[in-house]
Amino acid sequence: GGVIQMSASDATHAALVVARHRRRDDASAEDMVVYVSDQAHSSIEKGCTVAGIGHCRKVATDSEFALDVSRLESQIVEDLDAGLLPIAVVSAVGTTATTAVDPVRKIDAIAKRHAMWHHVDAAYAGTAMVCPEFRSLQDGVELVDSYTFNPHKWMMVNFDCNVLWVADRTPLIDTMSILPPYLRNEASESGAVIDYRDWHVPLGRRFRALKLWWVIRSYGVEGIRSFVRSHVQLADDFASRIEADDRFELIAPHPFALVSFVHTDGSDATRELAAALNDSGDVAVTPSVIGDRWFIRVSIGQTYTERSHVDHLWELIDRLA
Ligand SMILES: Cc1ncc(COP(=O)(O)O)c(C=O)c1O
Repeated sequence: GGVIQMSASDATHAALVVARHRRRDDASAEDMVVYVSDQAHSSIEKGCTVAGIGHCRKVATDSEFALDVSRLESQIVEDLDAGLLPIAVVSAVGTTATTAVDPVRKIDAIAKRHAMWHHVDAAYAGTAMVCPEFRSLQDGVELVDSYTFNPHKWMMVNFDCNVLWVADRTPLIDTMSILPPYLRNEASESGAVIDYRDWHVPLGRRFRALKLWWVIRSYGVEGIRSFVRSHVQLADDFASRIEADDRFELIAPHPFALVSFVHTDGSDATRELAAALNDSGDVAVTPSVIGDRWFIRVSIGQTYTERSHVDHLWELIDRLA
């Protein structure tokens, strides 16, 4: 089943609390370990902190910024030898910096071997999975314990709207359910209703389902697919322009609608270009760093972005670089 929450940070936090709770008899929280790639979003480390989990290991990534499974294995062995307890691993499908994709199926095999909870953070890229052609990027997803994505990122739903799915609701409800007399009622006790208060931290919640429902009703699955596909096509075309120009270099694959590139003159030139683009007032790009290299992220995902906007961005880049 699934539940709507405020943010991916909340969903991941909830998943980590479940991971901790189900191993509570095996170790103290301080001795528990959660694994992520060194490209994972900071919300996972924050979730560990809020949940009181002692260790959040950032495992090295490969040349495409995806989690390196052999490094994951060796880190787990090292932690077990040190008397720590691995409790969860979080795979990223679409990292924040470059939309890198961790190998979900391989990570799941390791998770199962060590009885770890396996959560997938697809906060941004989850929307693309409405289109069948992107689903191979999360191959193995049917094996994981929980999965989250944000319709408020790329699916035309206003902030805030996150969804969390769990393969089995029992551990989540076991963790979150506390039933004082004032929360008891016949409908709940007879099983006639699902009590989402037991699926997340807050008791009450906003009616976020309504705006999600309206988007689905208004566009239909085909409408959402064509919206995603048009952005991915615009990103592909933009990336081809970058690739064809000696002044620039792509620094990562672009499986979705985010293109990451550098100025070949180096980090200073890249930062200057980003600042000049943003100063134009017409576009907003995010400069970021990977390793010791500054790069520019072009994210094509706003509801009303069209080809003319991306053409204009390219004209600016061409003029200002
Ligand atoms: C991959 C990823 N995970 C998690 C988050 C956090 O999302 P939220 O703001 O919904 O907590 C982000 C936000 O950019 C993200 O890119």
